[in-house]
Amino acid sequence: MDKNAVWSELVLEISNCRRCRLSESRTRAVPGEGSLNAKVMFIGEAPGRSEDEAGRPFVGAAGKLLNELLSSNGMRREEVFITNVVKCRPPENRDPLEDEILSCSHFTNSIIQLIQPSIIVTLGNHAGRYVIEFLGGSRWYGVSRMRGNVYKITLFGKETLVIPTYHPAAALYNPAPRKALEEDFKLVTSKYRELTQNEVKAKERRRTLLDFMR
Ligand code: URA
Repeated sequence: MDKNAVWSELVLEISNCRRCRLSESRTRAVPGEGSLNAKVMFIGEAPGRSEDEAGRPFVGAAGKLLNELLSSNGMRREEVFITNVVKCRPPENRDPLEDEILSCSHFTNSIIQLIQPSIIVTLGNHAGRYVIEFLGGSRWYGVSRMRGNVYKITLFGKETLVIPTYHPAAALYNPAPRKALEEDFKLVTSKYRELTQNEVKAKERRRTLLDFMR
């Protein structure tokens, strides 16, 4: 099955999911969106009111900041992939509970395995803990201590760079996390460029070798 077909099936499964209590109060599930060939994946916390209405991730105030951070670093929203650790809105925008994150993990993991990103940027504590601790098996010490670093983690058999940062909502009215987010997005961009350049070099090496063998 090609990636588009797998994604369409996942969207359908997520939209009809009744694995946890969040399905009872949601308007629409929010599976995620972006390029299925994205090298960079962003994982947030949970849909808010705007996302629950639209069925799309990060379309409210935090989404506006995420878009700004992407575009000021030369990335387009369509070329990355964006999802959340829970796909349905928690009532009153409360934090997602551990059992809800785990109920949704089947989908989160399937999305990571489908996209196979080279870089995962976790936004906030819930996503950071899920990827670093639950999937990666390393201890999570909280976003303020872990952010600003790159963690090389093997996820589903693929070496992945995980870059934890603050959730954009935390930075909306606070200058310190905003500055940290800006720094961390620069780090993401530089790792992304490094990866792309290495890929170009590897392609050139393969071509030279092939020319030599002809
Ligand atoms: N906050 C999140 O964590 N995810 C969204 O999709 C929107 C706001």
